[in-house]
Amino acid sequence: MPDEPLVLGIETSCDETGVGVVRGHTLLADALASSVDQHARFGGVVPEVASRAHLEAMVPTMQRALDEAGVTLADVDAIAVTAGPGLAGALLVGVAAAKGYALAADKPVYGVNHLAAHVAVDTLEHGPLPEPAVALLVSGGHSSLLRVDDLTAGVTPLGATIDDAAGEAFDKVARLLGMGFPGGPAIDRAARDGDAGAIAFPRGLTAPKDLAAHRFDFSFSGLKTAVARWVEARERAGEPVPVSDVAAAFQDAVCDVLTAKAIDACRTHGVRTLVIGGGVAANSRLRVLAEQRAAKAGIRVRVPRPGLCTDNGAMVAALGSRLVAAGVAASPLDLPADSAMSLTTVAVAG
Ligand code: KG4
Ligand code: ZN
Repeated sequence: MPDEPLVLGIETSCDETGVGVVRGHTLLADALASSVDQHARFGGVVPEVASRAHLEAMVPTMQRALDEAGVTLADVDAIAVTAGPGLAGALLVGVAAAKGYALAADKPVYGVNHLAAHVAVDTLEHGPLPEPAVALLVSGGHSSLLRVDDLTAGVTPLGATIDDAAGEAFDKVARLLGMGFPGGPAIDRAARDGDAGAIAFPRGLTAPKDLAAHRFDFSFSGLKTAVARWVEARERAGEPVPVSDVAAAFQDAVCDVLTAKAIDACRTHGVRTLVIGGGVAANSRLRVLAEQRAAKAGIRVRVPRPGLCTDNGAMVAALGSRLVAAGVAASPLDLPADSAMSLTTVAVAG
């Protein structure tokens, strides 16, 4: 197999139809079609609407990616596709498309883990990942700390959220502040004009007794409730809600816990590289705070540019490229879409 394989990646686990093309560690194309506007009025992603949108967007997005990369399907070494975790119906569209393209062009297909792809995408910007590394994965559906010794072989979970995911907390707090969906970017923007020190919101699972049992775990549901209670009290008193201050103080509480635990995990494991991935990694405060705290601890932070943090096809192609280069066997052509795919499964075994 080539060291610099040409791999096409297909992503349809949520509301973004993504097709990316990667050669080795080089990004050649990243075509994206989003159905986010169709979900906005429901305040969250509607699975059936997302599936239908993927079906409509798949062929044109594929064509755009191939054109942008200046390659044809016959040129690629392999096709990678998100097999899970994600919305079952949405995943099915991508997996079925990947199988169809693989069969038509006689190419191997890799059914890959969406979360491992969020880690792999950073290699497109910063080159090979020094291993071992600690990965902080923060998206709409997951918040985890992982130890990565060899991304193509598997990851070791160190901790995860015990209730809401970080992105979910952003989305829920944004809704109660009357902002649009998805909430993360809206809170990030509003927080720029706010005073993070104006309100002291709780930091979940950071008290000594919680740390004993949940050192690398997260909890955001208490924080979300605290924000709701604070806003309600203001409204009951007939006082205006300082939206920017609430957004800034909430965002700070999330980022404080995420970065403190990520740095602690690096120190505990003697690891000097922290990679951050997933939609919440696009958050401006998280990026700055992680950089500041890591610098103090002598740890290098790697975070891809915001456009590569949220879901896209390039991340799937990036992981596929690593798998092909490592000589990992392709998945069987009857590979299933697995909405609950385990974090420890990097690719569907061949
Ligand atoms: O990784 P992603 O695109 O999809 C999933 O795999 O879930 O993550 C989406 C999540 C949403 O909850 C969204 O609100 C959050 O990422 N997000 C952000 C920002 N941009 C996206 N959260 C905080 N700050 C941002 N700038
Ligand atoms: Zn994601």
